[in-house]
Amino acid sequence: MPLASTEIVAPDVFWVGSIDWSVRVFHGYHTDEGTSYNAYLLMDEDVTLIDTVKQQFSQELVERITQVTSLDSVKYIIMNHAENDHSGALPYLMSLLKNASIVTNKICMEHLLLLYPELNLYPFKIVNNSTPLVLKSHTIQFLQVPMLHWPDSMFSYCPEISTLFSNDGFGQHIACSERFVDQISLQDHLLNLMREYTANILGPFQHPLQTALQHASNLTIHTILTGHGCSWRGGTLQLALAEYDLFSKNAQLKKKLTVMFQSLNGSVKQAAQIIANGTTNQVKIHDLQVSDFTKCALNCYDSEFLAFGSPTVYEQMTPLVEGIIQYLKGLHLIKGRKVILFGSFCWLDKAVNQMKKMVEQAGGVVIAEITFKMAIDNKTNQQILESLKLLV
Ligand SMILES: [Fe+2]
Ligand SMILES: [Fe+2]
Repeated sequence: MPLASTEIVAPDVFWVGSIDWSVRVFHGYHTDEGTSYNAYLLMDEDVTLIDTVKQQFSQELVERITQVTSLDSVKYIIMNHAENDHSGALPYLMSLLKNASIVTNKICMEHLLLLYPELNLYPFKIVNNSTPLVLKSHTIQFLQVPMLHWPDSMFSYCPEISTLFSNDGFGQHIACSERFVDQISLQDHLLNLMREYTANILGPFQHPLQTALQHASNLTIHTILTGHGCSWRGGTLQLALAEYDLFSKNAQLKKKLTVMFQSLNGSVKQAAQIIANGTTNQVKIHDLQVSDFTKCALNCYDSEFLAFGSPTVYEQMTPLVEGIIQYLKGLHLIKGRKVILFGSFCWLDKAVNQMKKMVEQAGGVVIAEITFKMAIDNKTNQQILESLKLLV
C-alpha cells in the first residue's frame, strides 16, 4: 500500500515519521488515541535525519526517506534520545546507509550501544552543548536536557530555520494525519494531551524543565518539531511554552480536587459521592475499577487537593489504591498536595493508616482521616463535610 507522502514541516525539513494508530499501551501509559513517532529529514548538501521511529515502522521510515532523497546521500543521523520509540529503526537503517554517522551525546551513545550492540560497526560523532554540527548550509546546535526524561535526552536547534527538534519535549500521544496543532480545530484537546503526557512522563522533572526553558529562551524559535503527536508553530507555540513554564514552576496547580477510590460494597463509593457533592472546588472522581492510572495522573497534574478512599480488606488497603498512590508517588504528583483519606472497615481499621504512610512518604500533606465501620452514618457524613472546609 503506498504511503501518504512526506510533508514539508519547516524550510528544508521533511516529516518522515510513522503514525501508530493502534498502540493503546505505551510502557504502562494508556494511549487511547494512539501516537506517532516523528522523524525529520533536513535537506542540506549534508543530508541529516533527526531521530528515527519504533522498530516495527523501520521500512516505512526508509520508504519516506527515499521519497525525498537517496539513502546514500544521508550523511548524519542525529539521535536526541535512545529510548526505543525513537531508536528502534536505527540498526536496520544503518545497515542500509553507506555514508552515515550517528550524531549524539556520550550518554546516548552508551545507551544505544547497550540496546543495539550491532551499532558498534558504525561511526559515531559525539556532540554536546559547545560542539555544533556544521552542515553545508545549516548548523545544528545541541541543548542537553538531562532527565527530560532520560539522562541522554537532548534537543537539537537549527538557527537558520529557527526550529527546535524537541524529541519527547512538548509531545502528545495522538495518532492523526495533521502535523501541527494549528491544523486541528480542538487545540484545547491537544494542550490537554500534552498535559497528560507531561503528567505521565515528565512529572518528576520540573527542575530540569525550568533549566531547559531558560536555555531555550535565548533562542529564536519559530517552530518546535516534536517526537510525538503534533508540532507547534505560530500562535500555538506560546501555548506550549507557557504550559511548560507553568508546570516547571508548579504554577499549574489550581483549586481542584481529584478523588480516587476503590469500593467493594458501596460505602467508600458513597463517601466519594458525598465529597464530590459537598466541595465547592472543581472536582474529578476516579473509581479505580473503571478508571486508568494515566487519566488519574492527568487530573492530579493540576490538582492542589487529592483524596484517596479504600476499604480495609484482609488488613490492607485495596491493591488498586496502593497502586495509584505508588504510581503518583513516582511521578511526584502527590508532593505538596493537601490530601483527604477515607476508608471503611468491618473488623479491623487499617487502610487509612496505611494510605497515610504512603501519602506522607510521597510528600503529601494529610489534612483529614475519616474512617467508618461498614456504613456511613450522620456523624461520618458530617466529618466528611467538615474535612472539605480544609481545602483552601
Ligand atoms: Fe522517551
Ligand atoms: Fe518518546
